[in-house]
Amino acid sequence: MRHLTRIQDLGPEGVETILAQALAWKRQAPGPILQNRLLGMVFFNPSLRTRTSFEAVMLRGGGHAIVLDVGNGVWKLEDRPGAVMNEDRAEHIKEAAPVLSRFVDMLGVRSFSANMNDEQDEVDPVINAFRRHATVPLVSMESSREHPCQGLADALTLRENFGATKKLPVTLTWAPHIKPLPKAVPNSFLLTAAAAGCEVRVAHPPGFELPPQVRAEAEAYAKASGGSVTYTHKQDEALAGSRAVYAKAWGPATRAGHAPGDVAALMAAYSGWMPTRRAMSRAAKDAIFLHCLPVRRNVEVADEVLDHSSSRVIDEAENRFHVQRSILHWLLSA
Ligand code: CP
Repeated sequence: MRHLTRIQDLGPEGVETILAQALAWKRQAPGPILQNRLLGMVFFNPSLRTRTSFEAVMLRGGGHAIVLDVGNGVWKLEDRPGAVMNEDRAEHIKEAAPVLSRFVDMLGVRSFSANMNDEQDEVDPVINAFRRHATVPLVSMESSREHPCQGLADALTLRENFGATKKLPVTLTWAPHIKPLPKAVPNSFLLTAAAAGCEVRVAHPPGFELPPQVRAEAEAYAKASGGSVTYTHKQDEALAGSRAVYAKAWGPATRAGHAPGDVAALMAAYSGWMPTRRAMSRAAKDAIFLHCLPVRRNVEVADEVLDHSSSRVIDEAENRFHVQRSILHWLLSA
C-alpha cells in the first residue's frame, strides 16, 4: 500500500513520475480515473486551496470527497500513545483512522505543527499516527514536517515555465511575517527542488536555519539528481541570476530560549527581507516569482511583486489540482 506523507515516499524518481503524469494530464485531461472512489479529508487546520483542489480532483475524476473538520462537528482527536484522555479530545486516532478506512478508499490529513519545535516536527505525530493506523492509502495535506503536494505543485510550475529543472538556479528566500510560521512549506520546496535537480539557494537571516534532517535529505536528493543546495544569510547574493524566486515566512530554528515577545521582535528585525521589485531585479531577466499562498501583502511580499507579470502564484495554486490528480492515481496504482 502506498502513502505520500513526505517526499521520501517518492524520492527523485517518484517525483519525476508524478510531475510527468501531472504535466501530461494538464495538457490533455484524462477520463474519469477516480470513478466511484472516495477520499476522506481530515482537517485539523483551515485551508482554501488544499480543500478545494482535492474536492475538485475527486469530483472531476468521477469520485467524491468527504470533508471532516476536527473539532467542528467531528470529535477532537488524540494522537499521543498511552494518553489518559480526560480532556477535550474524545476519540483516539487509533480508532478514528481504521474506522474511516472502512468507509473510504483513501485518506488525506492536514495537521500543522503544534508548537513549531523542530525535533517534534520531525516526529510529525498526527500524520504518523494516521499512517500507522489507517488501512487505506494516506496523503498529507500538510503536516508538521512537510507539505509534499505543495512542493510538487511548485516543481511543476518550474517545469512548465522552464521546460527542464536540471541545474535551474532557484532561490528560496525567507520573508517577514507578523508571527512565526511552520517550516513545512519551505522544507517541501527545498526537498522537491533538490529532487528535481535544481541549483537551490536558500537565503534566511541568522537563526532561521531549516531543520538539519531536512537539509541532509535535500543534500542526498541533490547528489542523486545532479542538483545542488547552498545556504546564505545574504538575500542579494542568493537572488543574483536566479530564474525563480520563492518567498516564504517561517519561524526561528527553535523557539527554545525565545520568549514569545522575543520571537516577534526577531521577526520584525528583518522586515527588509520582504521581496520588492528592487530585490527581484537582481534575479535573471526572465525570473518568475512563486509563493504557496495565502500571502500577507506588503508584510511578506510587496504588491508590486505579486501583481507583476513575473508572478506565477495563481498558476502555482492551479497546479495543486494537477499534481494531486497524479498523486491520487499513483496512490491507487500499487
Ligand atoms: N498553499 C496551501 O496549502 O493553501 P491552503 O492553506 O489554503 O490550503
